[in-house]
Amino acid sequence: MKRAKISIVGSGNVGATAAHWAASKELGDIVLVDIPQVDGMPQGKALDLFQASPVEGFDSKIIGTTSYEPTANSDVVIVTAGVARKPGMSRDDLININTGIVRSVAENVAKHSPNAVMIVVSNPLDAMVYVAWKASGFPTKHVIGQAGVLDAARYRSFLAMEIGCSVEDVHALLLGGHGDDMVPLPRYTFAGGIPITQLVKPDRLEEIIKRTRNGGAEIVGLLKTGSAYYAPAAATVQMAESIIRDKKRILPCAAYCEKEYGVGGFFVGVPCILGTDGVEKIIEIDLDPTEKKMFQSSVDHVKELVATVKL
Ligand code: NAI
Ligand code: 2OP
Repeated sequence: MKRAKISIVGSGNVGATAAHWAASKELGDIVLVDIPQVDGMPQGKALDLFQASPVEGFDSKIIGTTSYEPTANSDVVIVTAGVARKPGMSRDDLININTGIVRSVAENVAKHSPNAVMIVVSNPLDAMVYVAWKASGFPTKHVIGQAGVLDAARYRSFLAMEIGCSVEDVHALLLGGHGDDMVPLPRYTFAGGIPITQLVKPDRLEEIIKRTRNGGAEIVGLLKTGSAYYAPAAATVQMAESIIRDKKRILPCAAYCEKEYGVGGFFVGVPCILGTDGVEKIIEIDLDPTEKKMFQSSVDHVKELVATVKL
């Protein structure tokens, strides 16, 4: 069987850690890309990771580069290129600089890997996935933003801590943008099949939702020099795995919604089936009036953000 090829553009914290998770799952061969100004860095990280393979027992070729030729015909391209948040910055503060970066990256991805599925991670996520789609000219189902898997993972971790149960048993769904107005849905959250509302008191649940919304900023505040990368990279690789192995996982992803949820042509976080062809289906769920209102306000914020993008 042909090995999958995964290119990761941006070999910084999220990119290199995604390479690590992908290699440890033996997802395929990996190309780490960065800019010529840091020549040597992607090559060094790739070689270092490759030298772990005899110890960890994974058979993946891993190379680093500052050009796009070695990425040719990738099956999945993960875009983590850009600037990360520093304390006091919101994700939206990154928009101008990261728009230029993501646009040029997406153009190169389209030129060298026209059939790839592109997973965008760079922030502000809901705008950058839109930029990547426009600049690549890819079909909408081949461009996906990573946010919901991470946000849901944070929510699930906090809930498992609260209940004192395994994280594996907590299943949760989150909708909307990757911002402070993301929409965790307690009605669609279960631990061991038991509705979360029967296990966690309303005031504690509200605190956990607040902590989830603030999850990125909490890590920025602790690290002081950048933003989270272990969980973001793991979330991204879970999406890549579902695509490469055609697992058809149902994962919350920033997907292009036209008629779905009445969004009208923007990328927002919704439950998706991910397989070889990217977003193979967007699942529409019933929302009660309060959930609808929160979702609409999150979508409105995404639209305002995209309106500020200078393409
Ligand atoms: P980082 O600063 O460690 O790495 C970014 C890398 O991108 C650097 O190595 C830089 O040289 C490279 N880069 C810059 N311009 C480039 C270009 N034109 N082509 C190729 N590479 C280029 O940052 P980190 O922590 O890896 O974060 C990356 C991005 O991901 C940030 O925008 C951050 O906000 C975002 N992020 C998004 C998350 C999400 O859930 N969607 C979660 C965590 C981070
Ligand atoms: C996070 O949520 C910064 O978006 C990044 O950690």
